[in-house]
Amino acid sequence: MSHGFLGYDGSTFMFDFVVTALVLIVPALLVSLYLVKVQRNYTAHRNLQLALAGVLLVTVIAFEIDIRAHGGWRAIVDTRTVPLSAERLETVRQTLSVHLVFAISTPLLWGTTIALALKRMPRPPAPCEHSRLHKTLGWLSVMDLVLTSATGLLFYYRAFIA
Ligand code: HEM
Repeated sequence: MSHGFLGYDGSTFMFDFVVTALVLIVPALLVSLYLVKVQRNYTAHRNLQLALAGVLLVTVIAFEIDIRAHGGWRAIVDTRTVPLSAERLETVRQTLSVHLVFAISTPLLWGTTIALALKRMPRPPAPCEHSRLHKTLGWLSVMDLVLTSATGLLFYYRAFIA
């Protein structure tokens, strides 16, 4: 039975909430890149990044607390009306391991990118000596976040949809 709002068997409200956030983060990142690269609106780019980081942080903390309150991801997946075979459960577990690599490194990298930008860039933000490093860290953060999103969605698909 589904307790989420997307209607997939076994999922919870917070799983559905996080998976929706993982989908929405990608266009939001594209907007942030458009703001900085095309419009050169550095202040809007900073504000959007800070808002995204804040919303994602609160969402992920709520998600982690909720998963634990439900007894862990296995207990949640076990509530499926059609249980997963041992083989498919193993695939889900492996997908989660890969997802965790990106899901753990992203907040560290993203946090570092933001902290350094806030510390080293002028106010209001503008190109400066920190730009080179910021662009490298920025693109790495974007890639890490996109991979977190893609692997998170794959986990959700394999655990609740397939
Ligand atoms: C983790 C959050 C952030 C990410 C992922 C990110 C990403 C990026 C990327 C990829 C670029 C390079 C675009 C290009 O190739 O031209 C860029 C540029 C820039 N970002 Fe960020 N950014 C973040 C946070 C911030 C913050 C908090 C500030 C301000 C305090 C800021 C200010 C700037 C500025 C001024 C540029 C232009 C640099 C230049 O062209 O010389 N960014 N950002």
